[in-house]
Amino acid sequence: MNDRPFLPVAPLMIEHRLIERMIEVMRQKTKQAEETSIPDVRFIDAAVDFIRTYADRLHHGKEEGILFRDLTTKPLSEEHRRTMDELVAEHAFGRETTTRLVEAKSRYVEGEAGALTEIIDCFFTLTDFYPKHIEKEDRHFFLPVLGHFSREEQDRMLAEEREFDRRFVHGHYGNVVKGWEKDAGPGEVPGL
Ligand SMILES: [Fe+2]
Ligand SMILES: [Fe+2]
Repeated sequence: MNDRPFLPVAPLMIEHRLIERMIEVMRQKTKQAEETSIPDVRFIDAAVDFIRTYADRLHHGKEEGILFRDLTTKPLSEEHRRTMDELVAEHAFGRETTTRLVEAKSRYVEGEAGALTEIIDCFFTLTDFYPKHIEKEDRHFFLPVLGHFSREEQDRMLAEEREFDRRFVHGHYGNVVKGWEKDAGPGEVPGL
């Protein structure tokens, strides 16, 4: 059995690879929307769900809620502290751009053809900024800052990340059902 230590940034880096794959699809879809002047509305919904659920709540949730939280107790260099602030601000920027995309899509569906330009602009913004954000974390932040943690602290973080994932999936689908229950309204009792 391989007993090499598994770093707490490893799951985050693995998640980056999936985010990159979705970014690549977003690039293709942006190109198609530009060429045809017809956005793939079903894909926009899927991309928004992916960004909000996977990239933001799950992935940024672990970055900010576990790694960055623990780093605030460490004597970070001025440069790393600044980088961490930038990363948090970039998460917020991603969230704002996604909200802008959702609003543009609604306007497009309601018949406002001009909203297409806004949809394409949001996709351009996301596909441009996200890979740079990932590179900053992968190449310039995650590994150097790990030096602030003992092996035990890293193992604890890794265990907390796994617990976060486990709870996340149940919490997420619990909320999905709750949302649809509200949408469906009070159920009728058959036969009454
Ligand atoms: Fe991040
Ligand atoms: Fe990340």
